[in-house]
Amino acid sequence: MSSTSMRTHQCGELRAEHIGQTVALTGWVGRRREHGEKLAFVDVRDHTGITQCVVDNDVDVRSEYVVRITGVVRARPEGTVNSTLPTGEVEVGECHVEVLRSAVAPPFPIDARTDDVDENLRLKHRYLDLRRERMQKNLRVRAAVNGAIRAAMERQDFVEVETPMLVPSTPEGAREFLVPSRKEPGSFYALPQSPQLFKQLLMVGGVDRYYQIARCLRDEDLRADRQYEFMQLDMEMSFVTQDDVLDAVSEAVLDAAEAIAGDRPPAIEHITWHDAMNRFGIDKPDLRFGMELVELTDAFVATEFKAFAGAESIKGIRVPARADEFGRNQLDKLTDKAKSIGAKGLVWMKVSADGIDSPVAKFLSEDELAEVGSRLEAEPGDLLLIVADEWMTTCEVLGTLRNDLGRPPVHEGPLKFVWVVEFPLFVGVDKETGHPKPGHHPFTTPHPDDVDKMISDPMSVRSIAYDLVLNGWELGSGSIRIHEPELQRRVFKVLGISDEEAARKFGFFLNPFDYGAPPHGGFGLGLDRLVAILAGEENIREVIAFPKTQSGADPMTNSPIEGDPKQLLELGLRVLPRVD
Ligand code: AMO
Ligand code: AMP
Repeated sequence: MSSTSMRTHQCGELRAEHIGQTVALTGWVGRRREHGEKLAFVDVRDHTGITQCVVDNDVDVRSEYVVRITGVVRARPEGTVNSTLPTGEVEVGECHVEVLRSAVAPPFPIDARTDDVDENLRLKHRYLDLRRERMQKNLRVRAAVNGAIRAAMERQDFVEVETPMLVPSTPEGAREFLVPSRKEPGSFYALPQSPQLFKQLLMVGGVDRYYQIARCLRDEDLRADRQYEFMQLDMEMSFVTQDDVLDAVSEAVLDAAEAIAGDRPPAIEHITWHDAMNRFGIDKPDLRFGMELVELTDAFVATEFKAFAGAESIKGIRVPARADEFGRNQLDKLTDKAKSIGAKGLVWMKVSADGIDSPVAKFLSEDELAEVGSRLEAEPGDLLLIVADEWMTTCEVLGTLRNDLGRPPVHEGPLKFVWVVEFPLFVGVDKETGHPKPGHHPFTTPHPDDVDKMISDPMSVRSIAYDLVLNGWELGSGSIRIHEPELQRRVFKVLGISDEEAARKFGFFLNPFDYGAPPHGGFGLGLDRLVAILAGEENIREVIAFPKTQSGADPMTNSPIEGDPKQLLELGLRVLPRVD
């Protein structure tokens, strides 16, 4: 707690041990209650808490007035102690009140007990919203996370380097914000999606270990875990393998979690992308709950049931003790959901003491039904869901249903970190060119055991790319980068990028490698997401001081606003009517 030349204590600080002391408090007026004809109780508040002050009735202070109150700490009379308040044993009497600034009535109560204020109103008056206990706590959690991460990186010999905000467009996937150049009308900078380019060039520059708490900008549709502007712990290391990077990041993240939660979470497990898909049906598995996908393919090799016969992959999940919740309507909805993700259908089974009730039971043999029951460890009252399809579709559909039916809100329960490693080097095929598309970015190292399959079977090639996942949220991504030109050329070739195109598009980035790029790799960790979960919030807006709304606006400053014609002229820009 910090005293200043205007105050001796803060509002959450006074206890019985201070009784008898003359104190000066500064802060905002909270509740005021009249007490008889002469006196009033006035709560004075700052971010540390509130203290009850007993003032003369004729003192004109109202909600949110800024005051300095001097007085003497005394015990509250018997029967009036407030045990829910840390300062509840005492009050300040013989008060002299100085009004430092009067205030108009706030558009919503600042009182901690009212948390259901409309979000637009909160954001329009964010400076008032910040005065509330929840936001004060969240901002401090954020600062503590940043502090712990910085300390961990410094301790591990990482050097903080700032990279530019006005950068060229980069091939990182998201849509960029463009900044027009005044000196060269018609030319643009981009705002960085991440410091990716520059951090790799820092490795060429011999920095060895770089980090930055970096602002990143992406013009994406906003969601609970996405803002236009967000912060990353961005890092890169030279002369390393994957484990070196994972260890350095784990150290920082576990330090941050320990700083907030008190306990240090256990060492972070690794799971391969393939196992994550196979067991959880998603590349960001939430390990806080079970309901894992269970392999059933070989139980149906000889089946007569058309939908299962010959399927590449058949898997099921068990929804424990919830058969009764699902009537016809809900089951149809689950089936529609499964189909919307690409399933041909969804088999459901309700388990009871009498056996298995399912519309497809008549197509299955007794042995098949018994095998399903035993593999899924079914108990009476369970609902079982089964999908047959290509491996990827089966996994994705059941992974989605598993999350829909079992996943707690992201901030609840224990912190379950997991490293997902060996992501595929390529995902999907570009519809226009027919070439595979990069899974991470085109500079990601293929797994050494798979390099020879790059032409013959590209989709099976694993990469040295990894994600950190927490409670089902992707916290960050990284990879070991390609530093040898020959390997880079081979990857470009699979992606259908010719030497000329590579030189034109990526020359400014890759040519410097010819002057001696060390083997290197790194990681970008979304700090807003980490802070939200550690602060117990479901939306990253709650841990950002001045966020944008879902639609990308800032109701407080009314931005974005129309360009000023003079400014546009100077920049050589003309606004065309919008075409949707
Ligand atoms: P990537 O694009 O996966 O990797 O981003 C890393 C992490 O940044 C966070 N993040 C976001 N957070 C809030 N709002 C957004 N719009 C948003 N977009 C991303 C996520 C994500 O996991 N340069 C690479 C890292 C590397 O390879 O070193 C990169 O940026 O938590
Ligand atoms: P059908 O033979 O298409 O009438 O489907 C019979 C039942 O099996 C329906 O309940 C479908 O939803 C389900 N079903 C069909 N195809 C699949 C599939 N590939 N995987 C899981 N269930 C399926």
